[in-house]
Amino acid sequence: MITFESQLVQPIEFLQKIVSKGGPEPEEYGQLMNMADYLEKEYKSGNISELDLQLMRNSFGEDCLKTTLHGHSIARPYGYAGDFMIIDKFYRRHVTADKRFEKWDKFWQSCAATQAVRNRKTYFINTLTNLLKEKPQLDLLNVASGPARDLADLYSGLNKGQLNTLCIEADHRAIAYAKELNKAYNDEISFIEKNIFRYETDKKFDVVWSAGLFDYFNDSVFVKIIRRFVNWTKSGGEIIIGNFSECNSSQAFMELFGDWYLHHRSEEQLTKLAVQAGMEEKNIKVEREPEGINLFLRILVS
Ligand SMILES: C[S@@+](CC[C@H](N)C(=O)[O-])C[C@H]1O[C@@H](n2cnc3c(N)ncnc32)[C@H](O)[C@@H]1O
Repeated sequence: MITFESQLVQPIEFLQKIVSKGGPEPEEYGQLMNMADYLEKEYKSGNISELDLQLMRNSFGEDCLKTTLHGHSIARPYGYAGDFMIIDKFYRRHVTADKRFEKWDKFWQSCAATQAVRNRKTYFINTLTNLLKEKPQLDLLNVASGPARDLADLYSGLNKGQLNTLCIEADHRAIAYAKELNKAYNDEISFIEKNIFRYETDKKFDVVWSAGLFDYFNDSVFVKIIRRFVNWTKSGGEIIIGNFSECNSSQAFMELFGDWYLHHRSEEQLTKLAVQAGMEEKNIKVEREPEGINLFLRILVS
């Protein structure tokens, strides 16, 4: 395997070679990640200019960027990173029908980070299913529900009346998509189109769940929103927050080439933020999905 240690020309030639053949083969995935790690270090040290970075991003070519997950990540067709559509494409293991560029989508779908997104759906389903064994009826608040494929898969295994869900979601297009996906359960799932910063309620829920949102918050916003979640949680209920960990092997590639930045946090940092929000350490735990990339901060509200 090539290690990119000494000069810029070698990794750039490697990237050009991969681009010219429509994407990497599985045996090149490791080298591509190595290259991204190396180039990101160079970029952060100031050895690669903004212009060079743009040239590298554009070197993928317009046609490729139009059709692939990679292009979706850069172009942000819904106006923000991590939109409901790209997340649902991860859940569906979508690969472009354009054979010229399918290698890129296969590569993206093989990344540990995309697998971690799929694993968080499984984690959500298992967690809610287990909680429903302890309490036969639950009220769930799902903040930043996106495509709500996690809900559709969960509800397909539940009996009517077990779970009532309210989704708060800022993007009306995500709500329309999620409603269609969940139309069999529309009397048990409702949606409010609202930015979570402006949402107010007196209602309390057994579980307040949010994944794919706090990764975009800085620490002070993170703490502020936990405090609000506490007000919306019943005594004995739980807050569960997903956040990517620092063990994301795809981080450099996502940032440098996908222009997709997250606040990666360790288990200790997540616990510290919950304590800052006024929670007692004995009521806090952090779990993880099998990749160890998506962490879940769980706070028991007394
Ligand atoms: C990465 S997706 C996560 C979707 C879903 N939770 C999942 O894990 O599949 C993020 C979603 O958060 C929504 N969102 C982002 N900022 C928001 C905010 N301030 N208030 C409500 N929703 C927000 C976006 O519209 C998007 O649908």
